[in-house]
Amino acid sequence: MFSYNSIAPVSFKKIFVFILCLFLWAGSLSAQSKGRAGTLEHTIIPKPESYVAKRGKFIFHPETLIVYVGKDAKPVARYFAKEIAKATGMKLKVAEKGVGKTTLRLELKKTAKIPAEGYTLDISTSRISIVASSPAGLFYGLQTVRQMMPPEIYSRVPVKGKISWSLPCAKITDAPRFAWRGANVDCARHFFSKEAIMRFIDTISWHKINRFHWHLTEDQGWRIEIKKYPRLTEVGAWRSNLLIRENPEFVKEDSPHWNKEGQYGGFYSQKDIREIVKYARERFITIVPEIEIPGHSSAALLAYPEFSCDGRPPGGLPLGGGVFGKVYCPGKEKTFDFLKQIYTEVIDLFPGEYIHIGGDECPKGAWEKCPDCQKRIKDEKLFAENGHKAEERLQSYMISRIQKFLESNGKKVIGWDEIVEGGIPENCTVMHWREYTDPKIAPRAGHDLIVATRPRCYYNWAYSKEDKPFVLSQGGVMPMKQAWDFDPIPKGLTEKEQKHVLGVQACFWGEKTPNEQVLEFHYFPRLSAMSENAWGNRENRSYEDFLRRVKIQQKRYVFAGVNARPSAENPLPADYKVWEKYKLPASSKKRGK
Ligand code: ACM
Ligand code: ZN
Repeated sequence: MFSYNSIAPVSFKKIFVFILCLFLWAGSLSAQSKGRAGTLEHTIIPKPESYVAKRGKFIFHPETLIVYVGKDAKPVARYFAKEIAKATGMKLKVAEKGVGKTTLRLELKKTAKIPAEGYTLDISTSRISIVASSPAGLFYGLQTVRQMMPPEIYSRVPVKGKISWSLPCAKITDAPRFAWRGANVDCARHFFSKEAIMRFIDTISWHKINRFHWHLTEDQGWRIEIKKYPRLTEVGAWRSNLLIRENPEFVKEDSPHWNKEGQYGGFYSQKDIREIVKYARERFITIVPEIEIPGHSSAALLAYPEFSCDGRPPGGLPLGGGVFGKVYCPGKEKTFDFLKQIYTEVIDLFPGEYIHIGGDECPKGAWEKCPDCQKRIKDEKLFAENGHKAEERLQSYMISRIQKFLESNGKKVIGWDEIVEGGIPENCTVMHWREYTDPKIAPRAGHDLIVATRPRCYYNWAYSKEDKPFVLSQGGVMPMKQAWDFDPIPKGLTEKEQKHVLGVQACFWGEKTPNEQVLEFHYFPRLSAMSENAWGNRENRSYEDFLRRVKIQQKRYVFAGVNARPSAENPLPADYKVWEKYKLPASSKKRGK
């Protein structure tokens, strides 16, 4: 039997413990709810699927050990050790097992039910644990870890002063919405140096972007070394002037890429390309080279005019963007031999699954007059049909032949949305750019679609009309809010058709670009918006919360030396110069026109 006296002291103790537990539980609940994605706790971009804050913080010390589980996790561990050494000066050890003063553990668990490229991240005071089913997932978990650290961690040189390299404890589950999260750069109009391209690739990798669409050939320049056809770069990589020089205010700010003859241009050697591909691969970015056919080909045809309809070279490389009539002749068999040789070298350089063949904006006037093209139309019975003109069908014929060649070499083909005219060539993926055409045509016909639609995906457009560097932007105005407030999936697709939407991509066209500072200005911080659309969880989204996170992102850019627009939305100071950090080499000042 119990006596009142015997149970009373135990009950008081129990009640006290119970109240204490209740208090701690309530405290942890409030910390957790504050920490949910989209609320006030984290500054991760793109917003993760779920975020639960915990108490305490993890600190990186010189004795922190990075442990990898699974041999494919090792290069990811090494990449991270190398990256954070730049800012912290700490050379963290990477090992297969063990425990450090604190430990960062990267576990590759192929059997885990974690989506491709997804990860789970658990941060406690003594250990960070990232689990993923692919090395890419580990890499993205590490990008999140880095964003949770002080923004100084993005510095590419050792940071002065005492900084605690810490991050808050939390539990995160995350995976991308789309498999295709792209960024494109037109290196054909403005030639960006190898170093500028590598820097760009590095910066986009922090945003969990996984495709770099490299626009390598254009009317205004051919930028890729092809051993079999050296004139492509000897002749096709150089033009006599640059559009930006037409504007006297900007003359002194223009590019260093002038040769001894006073011509503007440059190209990437095959050695450069292999180096860039490897660098991108370490950052889980696949490069998609674009080698344009049949249009936008003046540079190639200045070098080898025999592959055009009339066999005559254009009168030099054009100044200014636009559409030009000098295009490949699909009537001549030798044109296909030439292109196949070029693509063979391209295939060898780029291990990725896709090759972009352009296909946009091809005037067909030359084909109408060309006896070879007209004979081809007759022989192949490419007569006008189903609303497609004969010459449009001739374009489809040409792309189909190249597609079959590339497919037989293990590659998939992407073309701009003009390839739907004339009938979509078999097994081609469509990249949609024209806001006035229907993006649903490809997925409804069972083809994959990548959304790169103007203006939401055109990052060469200005943030604001008031920006003084507006003159350096190409197109109209595409403010941050518009970039962010964009759902890549076209309205009206069935669930089955939606599965054909591989993802979304930002584009940058460079005819008005004098240097890489201008590229960075247009892309950052706006790419944060693209990454939220490409990766991010769309639930509980708020633009205000996004802008709050972008403010910290801006600090990261500053420490990394990225020439981001200093604010996402506010007007720029009157004396702001987009090229401020750019030093024009003295030797190039007097070259050119
Ligand atoms: C394009 O802007 N012509 C793809
Ligand atoms: Zn022709």
